[in-house]
Amino acid sequence: MRQTLLLLPGDGIGPEVVAQARRIAEALVPDVQIEEGLVGGASFDAHGTPLTDETLERARKASAVLLGAVGGPKWNGVGRDKRPEAGLLALRKGLDVFANLRPAFCFPALVEASSLKKDRVEGLDIMIVRELTGGVYFGQPRGIDEQGGLRRGYDTAVYTHPEIERVARVAFEIARGRDARVTSVEKSNVMESGLFWRQEVTLAHAELGGGVELSHMYADACAMELVRAPKQFDVILADNLFGDILSDEAAMLTGSIGMLPSASLGAPGVPGLYEPVHGSAPDIAGQGIANPCAAILSLEMALRWSLGKEKAADTLFAAVGKALDRGARTRDLGGDLTTRQMADAILAAL
Ligand code: NAD
Ligand code: IPM
Ligand code: MN
Repeated sequence: MRQTLLLLPGDGIGPEVVAQARRIAEALVPDVQIEEGLVGGASFDAHGTPLTDETLERARKASAVLLGAVGGPKWNGVGRDKRPEAGLLALRKGLDVFANLRPAFCFPALVEASSLKKDRVEGLDIMIVRELTGGVYFGQPRGIDEQGGLRRGYDTAVYTHPEIERVARVAFEIARGRDARVTSVEKSNVMESGLFWRQEVTLAHAELGGGVELSHMYADACAMELVRAPKQFDVILADNLFGDILSDEAAMLTGSIGMLPSASLGAPGVPGLYEPVHGSAPDIAGQGIANPCAAILSLEMALRWSLGKEKAADTLFAAVGKALDRGARTRDLGGDLTTRQMADAILAAL
């Protein structure tokens, strides 16, 4: 049966960058069947919901899903469960893609593009493994209400044993293919769910972490260490919220958030969900100047992790590096190429 790649471009710059990833997929892996669907605000506008059952079903049946980005000021007034972001969360939860891989890799050509000094980021290669379907993003109860005459807003940070064990297992497996070091991040000094996280990761390591060195760090200290001496890290294992924040921070080490891809993986047989780390960038949407590299590198991850096309993935990764070596730069990297011209440069390097 033919493999299918479901594209969910979404909102803002999402469709702009996914269109370029599509051109590259068509050139590189013409045997893969490409489909498209709606998610986020685009789906809300068409169907009144940011994720339809039909789109979730199509995602479940695909070999891999490549999402652009969701959200934007247009939907700010929409209720929480109908917001574009709720569609993305429902997609992650619906596919049960609990392990979010967010590599922060500094391409040699971009060492000067980082806001950090060259010697801090040259050769940087970190993998953040972010738990994606639990924690404070999904914990109950949550709400905004009134108690004893006091208005309040609250969320619940909760993790269960299996949720931590399965994502820790992924982190150890990934680490074995790299430098075999995992830094687990939490706030066990102030949070019960953080203390439980540390205990469970330690137990999982004893059972599943053969050959991997495990260390623990408070999330705030990790945020500091990421800009002080980022190359000390190999794999960072974090919960949903800390992983979200630390991956945006790590993005800036690589030059631009427009460079960072991600892969969200579930149990074997579940299609992976691939998305740039960046959002819909309302400030530059519609101008055709967004950096498509994060989306294109997300395609690269889909080729590698879901479609079994490692050679094509290697070729694509090398082509991105080559295009950057030749000086191809979008605005966020200090250049003046349009989104399409950046993809042209990568296609030319393929
Ligand atoms: P953002 O990532 O959209 O933008 C932050 C800054 O980075 C902006 O200045 C933007 O122009 C720039 N930027 C982002 N991607 C870029 C690219 N490819 N090329 C060049 N510049 C780029 O984050 P935000 O402004 O906080 O959020 C905007 C909307 O996106 C919100 O609705 C948010 O909820 C949503 N969001 C969605 C996702 C997702 O779909 N996975 C991720 C993050 C934020
Ligand atoms: C991300 C985004 C999402 C998150 C939002 C848009 C739901 O920030 O993918 O990093 O917080 O997970
Ligand atoms: Mn984020």
